[in-house]
Amino acid sequence: MSRTIALTGATGFIGSILASSLINAGWQIQALVRPTSDRSHLRATCVKWIEGNLEDLDSLRRLVRNVDAIVHCAGAVRGVSEKQFIQVNVEGVARLVHAAVEQHSLPRFLLISSLAAREPHLSPYATSKRQAEETLAAAAGDMFWAAFRPCAVYGPGDRELLPLFRWIGRGIAPVLGSEDARFSLLYIDDLAEAVLLWLQHGSCKASVFELHDGQPNGYSWKDVIDVSARLHARRVLHLKVPEPMLRLLAGLNFMAAKAMNYRPMLTPGKVREIRHANWVCDNTALNQEIGWRPQVSLEEGLRRTLR
Ligand SMILES: NC(=O)c1ccc[n+]([C@@H]2O[C@H](COP(=O)([O-])OP(=O)(O)OC[C@H]3O[C@@H](n4cnc5c(N)ncnc54)[C@H](OP(=O)(O)O)[C@@H]3O)[C@@H](O)[C@H]2O)c1
Repeated sequence: MSRTIALTGATGFIGSILASSLINAGWQIQALVRPTSDRSHLRATCVKWIEGNLEDLDSLRRLVRNVDAIVHCAGAVRGVSEKQFIQVNVEGVARLVHAAVEQHSLPRFLLISSLAAREPHLSPYATSKRQAEETLAAAAGDMFWAAFRPCAVYGPGDRELLPLFRWIGRGIAPVLGSEDARFSLLYIDDLAEAVLLWLQHGSCKASVFELHDGQPNGYSWKDVIDVSARLHARRVLHLKVPEPMLRLLAGLNFMAAKAMNYRPMLTPGKVREIRHANWVCDNTALNQEIGWRPQVSLEEGLRRTLR
């Protein structure tokens, strides 16, 4: 058996760590790459690059030819319109599954979805992640598949949470969510380990699995700031950003993105995600299915991230 994986999103934060850990575990990787992608940080790793994108079915057919498994990690995480998210996150999955089920020997298929899919009404991103899961489930046929729903993932190379941790290092902690909101977190290496275990596992139930670092009832903003402040060994000023101000900033950013044609992270939809009261996950289903247990606590994960 060739033990080859088709990987999408290998140039992104999560996908690049997945690529390294899969290679270390002995898998051969063929990874989808757009001509515009920055692959410099992966130059050292032995990846066979397949040029294309999720809009191009032919490139997806080349990507999945004769592979044992597909890990679909590419996704739009920033955008203005629902259409932009749907085109990449839903139609991209539909094309990739289409290419996969054409194979003579069916590969197994893992979709890196998101906990956001649990609350699809909150944002165009969340809607698209839920629809992506449904598209996979409907089109997979006899193919083994699963969708992972990680909560917020952090680690070296992350561009979303790292700025927040850096601000805390400077002594200022912007508090964007409400005081009583609870959310789970996951260190990137634990996600990579879960992917490896799922790939090694013989037969798995086709299902959607939540993943987090195992902290019961997750964290509040204060918990995270306290852990970061302890690591930075400094007092930190909690700067509460009122919801109307956050909404105003998101609205302005949204309009600027439309006018200047860039893909924004902070949008009204993202504010609804940030302000959502409960992003606490449950690992039970995945633990029972493949025996995965996260190893990295928030304190240890932050230490490694900030190193
Ligand atoms: N980060 C988190 O906390 C988190 C949590 C839960 C779930 N997720 C999910 O995990 C996945 C990866 O997230 P990330 O944080 O690693 O994002 P990221 O750093 O922005 O990486 C996104 C990846 O997707 C690729 N991509 C985007 N549009 C594409 C297209 N049309 N065709 C081909 N490739 C395309 C990008 O390629 P380029 O390099 O060419 O742009 C990049 O490799 C996403 O599906 C996201 O929904 C992330």
